[in-house]
Amino acid sequence: MRSLTLLGIESSCDDTAAAVVRQDGDGPAILSSVVMGQAQLHAAFGGVVPEIAARAHAERLDLCVEQALEEAGLGLRDLDAIAVTAGPGLIGGVLSGVMTAKGLAAATGLPLIGVNHLAGHALTPRLTDGLAFPYLMLLVSGGHCQFLAVRGEDRFERIGGTIDDAPGEAFDKCARLLGLPQPGGPAVEAEAAQGDPARFPLPRPLLDRPGCDMSFSGLKTALLRARDRAVAEAGGLTRQDRADLCAGFQAAVAEILAEKSRRALRAMAEEGALPPSGQAPTPPGYLEREERGAAGFAVAGGVAANGAVRAALEAVAAERGLSLVAPPLALCTDNAAMIAYAGLDRLRRGDIDGMTLAARPRWPL
Ligand code: KG4
Ligand code: ZN
Repeated sequence: MRSLTLLGIESSCDDTAAAVVRQDGDGPAILSSVVMGQAQLHAAFGGVVPEIAARAHAERLDLCVEQALEEAGLGLRDLDAIAVTAGPGLIGGVLSGVMTAKGLAAATGLPLIGVNHLAGHALTPRLTDGLAFPYLMLLVSGGHCQFLAVRGEDRFERIGGTIDDAPGEAFDKCARLLGLPQPGGPAVEAEAAQGDPARFPLPRPLLDRPGCDMSFSGLKTALLRARDRAVAEAGGLTRQDRADLCAGFQAAVAEILAEKSRRALRAMAEEGALPPSGQAPTPPGYLEREERGAAGFAVAGGVAANGAVRAALEAVAAERGLSLVAPPLALCTDNAAMIAYAGLDRLRRGDIDGMTLAARPRWPL
């Protein structure tokens, strides 16, 4: 296999990132991965401010690319292509990245590849663990929550997801309601470690309905009511009340994600079921369905860092004799190595974009 080296660029949310990934006969290797976060810029606003994010990306992208090349010990002339997140995401940030990539492509003559950010996340378990197709991918971050059946480098099927908030967003709101710092997930997890998850039982929205869709916004309202009840009873919120509320909230999120994962794995397995023995002739589409039972279960996104969530998902994977693949956190959250990696196969197939590449705020897989 000819060695291919790609520069990846990512700027769809609040991380400015650039990375160099090389693939040769030994498999893919991350030569560098630089992520410049913007948490401090947005902290005072309680969420990502698109204008501020776009400006910060525009200011830092050049530096970020320069640093990624330097850490890889390479120059632009050593690259085979430039891959950039072309969506979905905050459009100002995506545009900054796409314009930077176009400038580099125009100056060097290198092929330009516009990558779907979600495809980057979905293919990461192949980069980190060499996971074989097909597998189930649960993407749980501050902005995303979906189940993807990943059947090939460009074959993704969404088999469910949130109908309202993403779980990370719900963790962040939970933290805000309880006066905890942002990002909320780690703060809620730390509090929950001291809490009793059974004291404030919270609902499990949509769990009684079939399918793999999820809902997390009702959880926040239920938490608000439980908090107000505790305050009304005791005249204030004690440290223990807060810990118990966090534990109840975390347990609810973990159970929803686990039960819906169980169903998503079952759905993939049932599609992949062999036809009854002796059945002939082979039904149309059978070969495609045969390859469908999940060979693996992977999780990505910031919420995958949560110990309770991870333990619940590991248990579900074990029920099917699978082990949960969770890439290291730095590759689970937004980064450019996943974008470069997703561009590799596109380059091999000659599926490249030109200067007409558009930045897309919405881009379902
Ligand atoms: O994937 P990510 O870094 O960024 C995007 O959303 O793109 O995910 C960030 C989200 C935040 O909402 C944060 O609160 C949540 O992941 N998070 C956690 C934990 N660490 C980060 N949620 C629960 N438990 C954690 N330990
Ligand atoms: Zn992301």
